[in-house]
Amino acid sequence: MNLRKTITEYLGEVEEFTSAASDEIEAFRVKYLGSKGLMKELFKEFKNVPGPERKEVGILLNELKKRATEKVTSLQAAMGNASVSTESSIDVTRPGFPYNVGSRHPVSLVMNEIIDIFRRMSFTVAEGPEIEDDWHNFTSLNFPEEHPARDMQDTFFVDLPGNFALRTHTSSVQARVMESQEPPIRVIAPGRVYRNEAISPRSHCIFHQIEGLLIDKDVSFADLKLHVLYFARQFFGEDARIRLRPSYFPFTEPSAEVDVYWGLETEADYRITKGTGWLEILGCGMVDPNVLRNFDIDPKEYSGFAFGLGIERIAMLRYEIDDIRWFYENDARFLNQFRQTF
Ligand code: DAH
Repeated sequence: MNLRKTITEYLGEVEEFTSAASDEIEAFRVKYLGSKGLMKELFKEFKNVPGPERKEVGILLNELKKRATEKVTSLQAAMGNASVSTESSIDVTRPGFPYNVGSRHPVSLVMNEIIDIFRRMSFTVAEGPEIEDDWHNFTSLNFPEEHPARDMQDTFFVDLPGNFALRTHTSSVQARVMESQEPPIRVIAPGRVYRNEAISPRSHCIFHQIEGLLIDKDVSFADLKLHVLYFARQFFGEDARIRLRPSYFPFTEPSAEVDVYWGLETEADYRITKGTGWLEILGCGMVDPNVLRNFDIDPKEYSGFAFGLGIERIAMLRYEIDDIRWFYENDARFLNQFRQTF
């Protein structure tokens, strides 16, 4: 068998072959490139080619293989394009593959949901710095000089000239808003806060809060209660129940803590609510007149309420997360559970 001649003939055949029918293209592929195809046979034959001719025949053989492969690929591609446009074999109405856009962090999910609820009550979003001075974080908010929250145990102080610390609550943004805006004021301030606390399943040195502040003429405690109840029903469902317990915060008077009714049916309910059925969701109160005066707002003309809620706490309830540390570990097994596909 004259291998060189045979290969040249096949090269011609490959060159001339054309088809738009998938079965014909497949037959061509099997003939040349299949596991029992021509190429296999020719390479077997190649072993018998005498030394001096080997190089030339080898090159020809490789060329044939290359051209046959290219032919198949280009005919298949042409066929694919053609059938999309003629809608012959590809069903363009089939749903696409789900497109994975990653996942939002559960803290962001809850934060955005809460922001949306207050936006519907015409609150706007305010921001402030995470490195804050003593005036905005403590003094202007009526913290007495010897208040324990100022203590080294709670606050991360920052080694900068001046009296700076990582803000311990988003109430500092209240101060910044009152400083720069005239009433009526209706803002919420979501953000990260820092406390020098031992890390445990229930507490962390970093967490997130949403602060709310409303100042206007004739704002009463009833308005505060109404807003908090509306929020609770939007977030936890229409039949949500709340209760207010008297409390103390330096910047509000009177102050309260708000609990939402969680239920007391399962053993887990007992554990989560410490046997009461109620869960604390936020702190609130009427803005202390001293605070208003610190920002040149006349307490005889204006009154207001403020509240602050912890986002991790609420996210833990919503998603039944039993350890706050999950939020900051970046463990993909945790984060993937919040994945959304479109
Ligand atoms: N700043 C408080 C805290 O970090 C939460 C808070 C309580 C904010 C009462 C308020 C408020 O605006 O009125 O625990």
